[in-house]
Amino acid sequence: MSLRAAAAWACATPLQIVAGYAASGLLFRLRTEELATAAERLRWLRWTAARLACCGAALALRDTPAARAVVLVVGVLATYSHNARGRSPTARRAAPGTVALVTGATAGIGLATAVALCRRGVDVVVPGRSPERAAAAAARINAAARGPGRARALPRVGLELDDRASVRGYAAAAAAAAPDLALLVLNAGVMRPAYGVVVGGAEATVASNHLGHFLLAELLGPTLAANAARGRDCRVVVVSSSLHRVAARALDALPDAAARRAAVTDLRGDARAYGLFPRYALSKLMNVLHARALARRRPAVAAIAVHPGCVYTDVTRSLPWPVRAAHALAVPCWLLFQKLPPHGAHATVHAALAPELAAAENTGRSPYVADCRAEAPGLPRDADALADALWGASAAHAGAG
Ligand SMILES: NC(=O)c1ccc[n+]([C@@H]2O[C@H](COP(=O)([O-])OP(=O)(O)OC[C@H]3O[C@@H](n4cnc5c(N)ncnc54)[C@H](OP(=O)(O)O)[C@@H]3O)[C@@H](O)[C@H]2O)c1
Repeated sequence: MSLRAAAAWACATPLQIVAGYAASGLLFRLRTEELATAAERLRWLRWTAARLACCGAALALRDTPAARAVVLVVGVLATYSHNARGRSPTARRAAPGTVALVTGATAGIGLATAVALCRRGVDVVVPGRSPERAAAAAARINAAARGPGRARALPRVGLELDDRASVRGYAAAAAAAAPDLALLVLNAGVMRPAYGVVVGGAEATVASNHLGHFLLAELLGPTLAANAARGRDCRVVVVSSSLHRVAARALDALPDAAARRAAVTDLRGDARAYGLFPRYALSKLMNVLHARALARRRPAVAAIAVHPGCVYTDVTRSLPWPVRAAHALAVPCWLLFQKLPPHGAHATVHAALAPELAAAENTGRSPYVADCRAEAPGLPRDADALADALWGASAAHAGAG
């Protein structure tokens, strides 16, 4: 291959990737996530048009390689800054002495969130499935953040979110060790390729992603409420996903309100109908409904649901090996189009610290934050009734064992 042909190939390939991504990204957002407002649709149309124009210009400038290279670099950087880096949280510092608890801080977005919070002066309690894992994560977070906030693990207690006894033990230890708790970040999450049931009879994805967090928030709720009554800015941030919209649409396709209610309160699910993505999406819709119900029940504490973006983490670790292999092979593309964990943490940090999201200004309402911007979530019909029904079913499950 001649040098010229190699240069042409090297330019054409990223161009094709950028053009293909621009078009498919727009289609994905329009079809799967249903951009809710005209402003959101306009924003995406604008970005897609700009990227496609960039690709077109680079192709048209075939005979002027220097100009072509400049256009290409601008296009790739614009794609990176919009998709991979995203917007940055605006709040630079928390109130002195703010104490947070971040679940799932041993890896991925949770670990990056804990680092970012420590850098902003927040002291972070780090749970792990075992005290040893939690201590190792806290040491990693402190080494990366270098203060001013400190991460710490609680001695002798682990947190297994799909085990009610473990959640109760951990919550009791956390309430005693962190009476100043003002920020609860419910971030841990899993994707499970196969159906499974945990002790107590709930399906395992829902148990980890929603029920464990529901119980933890209930047990630490009095601590947060007491601190809110003392004038602290107290918040619960629930890390959901834009995929919650898929579950909302599936619920809306059901014939009536009774069927929707049955679907959202069926914590055990049906082994024969199990699908990894539908179940994961349902658990992420439960996260949004949980935040909504929390905001109405405890209005002094802000409850905010978050979509972190598409983030390159190990969340696919339990998927079948061909999916993981494809994920690993696509790394060069993902690094352009997927966020890295520190960027994925931006939306959570924004929800945790942005002054405009404090409870005082959002009494009874639960904002949904994506890319550091409040967006309209994709909710099913009768969202408030479904949030209440889910609350009742979750409370019954939490109290039963
Ligand atoms: N990555 C994305 O593109 C993306 C997109 C949208 C939403 N999200 C959401 O973002 C959150 C964080 O995901 P991630 O990508 O950072 O995933 P990750 O890298 O796999 O981290 C998940 C964390 O959750 C913990 N965890 C999972 N199940 C648990 C359980 N039953 N008990 C205790 N801890 C548990 C894990 O602990 P171990 O390390 O001990 O397993 C780990 O610390 C999740 O809620 C996910 O649904 C991610």
